[in-house]
Amino acid sequence: MNRIFSGVQPTGNLHLGNYLGAIRNWVALQGDFDCIFCVVDMHAITLWQDPKDLVHNTREVAAAMIASGVDPERNIIFNQSQVSGHAELAWIFNCVARVGWLNRMTQFKEKAGKNRENASVGLYAYPNLMAADILLYKATHVPVGEDQKQHLELTRDIAIKFNNDFGVELFPVVEPLIFGAATRVMSLKDGSKKMSKSDPSELSRITMTDDADAIAKKIRKARTDPDPLPGIPDGLDGRPEAANLAGIFAALSDRTVADVLGEYDGAPFSRFKTDLSDLAVAKLAPIGDEMRRLMADTAYVDGLLTAGAAKARDIAAPILAEVKKVVGFLGA
Ligand code: TRP
Repeated sequence: MNRIFSGVQPTGNLHLGNYLGAIRNWVALQGDFDCIFCVVDMHAITLWQDPKDLVHNTREVAAAMIASGVDPERNIIFNQSQVSGHAELAWIFNCVARVGWLNRMTQFKEKAGKNRENASVGLYAYPNLMAADILLYKATHVPVGEDQKQHLELTRDIAIKFNNDFGVELFPVVEPLIFGAATRVMSLKDGSKKMSKSDPSELSRITMTDDADAIAKKIRKARTDPDPLPGIPDGLDGRPEAANLAGIFAALSDRTVADVLGEYDGAPFSRFKTDLSDLAVAKLAPIGDEMRRLMADTAYVDGLLTAGAAKARDIAAPILAEVKKVVGFLGA
């Protein structure tokens, strides 16, 4: 069976964008693929994380996956730092990838900002660790959002160069799995900005732990424009807030935007928002409730992550041994 690897950083404030763009899609994949879902705590520390928050956020990502319907028995769910092979393979890839390749990574430029000299070396080498995550398990498919496509290209380049340099067919060339339309969830306060964990306004995002009241309030206060809803998707041009809310409606109800607009053709936002609010509460509040229940039982969540790490190690060990032998590392 083809193998999937995907990761989420435990950096807090998991929101509707993470759910619709990533976690929800994983639930659908678990029947067709052998799936490994990783809470990438080693990626998280490329930017400063308070240690107490990191532990909490690691559990919270695991709880979000499970509460959303990812089955921890059928799939592997674990946190990256418990499997040392990620760090070991990343080092080897640090010696395969070229400085010129990493210099082209747009995410580093964005995250490092103006003061690039002061960015951590880890932030720079981040894509090599991501390649190691995937290739440590010889994963063939990786579900990612648009923003990670460049990192996946780099993963392919690393696999190809490694295979070439050492004259082997060891690593597969991975394929991205990019999901359908409404995966780009925008801020509820500004339809031109992505919904983000770091937006100072809490009203800009619906988090996965928001309760029914908070979800309803944020939708009620979401920015709109004065016109009624259009009957067809073309009518959303130049109306980013309307487009965002219609996209969220469609994604949460598993319908197309065209279908949703057909129903709300000419409707005022007041009616649309009432229905969207009911829909969002029905879909998301039970997940938030289940996350809170899981978070109250940290021993259970920690046990699942540790058991998942053991299963991950079993897959990784022979692959890492093969890599080390090919590279010429002496050992048993
Ligand atoms: N870089 C990804 C993100 O920020 C997270 C990630 C780390 C990942 N390793 C991965 C995603 C491996 C897919 C596969 O979203």
